[in-house]
Amino acid sequence: MTWARAFTGSTRLPRHTIDRRDNVPAQTSRQRQELLLFARNFLKHPRMLGSVIPSSRFLVNEMLGEVDWDRARVIVEYGPGVGTFTHKILKRLHPDAILVAIEMNTDFVGFLQRTTSDPRLHLVHGSAADVGSILQRLGRGKADYIISGIPFSTMGPALRDGIVRATRDALTPTGSFLCYQYSNGVLPNLKRTFGRVKLGFEPRNIPPARLYYCKP
Ligand SMILES: C[S@@+](CC[C@H](N)C(=O)[O-])C[C@H]1O[C@@H](n2cnc3c(N)ncnc32)[C@H](O)[C@@H]1O
Repeated sequence: MTWARAFTGSTRLPRHTIDRRDNVPAQTSRQRQELLLFARNFLKHPRMLGSVIPSSRFLVNEMLGEVDWDRARVIVEYGPGVGTFTHKILKRLHPDAILVAIEMNTDFVGFLQRTTSDPRLHLVHGSAADVGSILQRLGRGKADYIISGIPFSTMGPALRDGIVRATRDALTPTGSFLCYQYSNGVLPNLKRTFGRVKLGFEPRNIPPARLYYCKP
């Protein structure tokens, strides 16, 4: 094989190789719009976002692989951003189930309202700290899964602890809290609050992400 062929012939990467283009898939105008909106908001609110680009498909698929889609009827997502997890959750979600997406950022709420019309999605402009009262208002009881992308590491200790406790209280006894982070800061809170915490790691994300799968 010639040098030129080696570099131009195939775009397939060996297994476990990080395809960095995957975190920056600026191929369609929708994807470009999402990336720009996300990056612009990172510059405005770096602590609220905690990352300059949305999650990779590797991270999304790894976390959503933990969900029992036949069983789940109420799923909550914290911090949907531009909808990177949201769209994939809606694709797999049971027809009778609902997804409650709680987002603090006004621009992201507006963007999701304009671009997502699934009747199973309940988009709430608010904080994960209020998950209990939000579920109560919707009259759908407790959650089977809570999936989180919010940056616990940039929060003060009281808010971090408050959200972790509110999350456990908002889950059914067999429910799960699935969470990713870029540092281990929230791990002591999770261990204190949940009965079981399983650890995972996704190196093919930028930055590489720690995963926590928690049971009450
Ligand atoms: C790292 S981004 C994750 C976005 C998307 N889920 C992803 O994985 O690409 C964190 C998101 O959490 C939101 N957020 C931060 N604190 C929050 C809170 N207390 N309640 C709800 N959303 C919050 C931010 O506005 C942002 O959309």
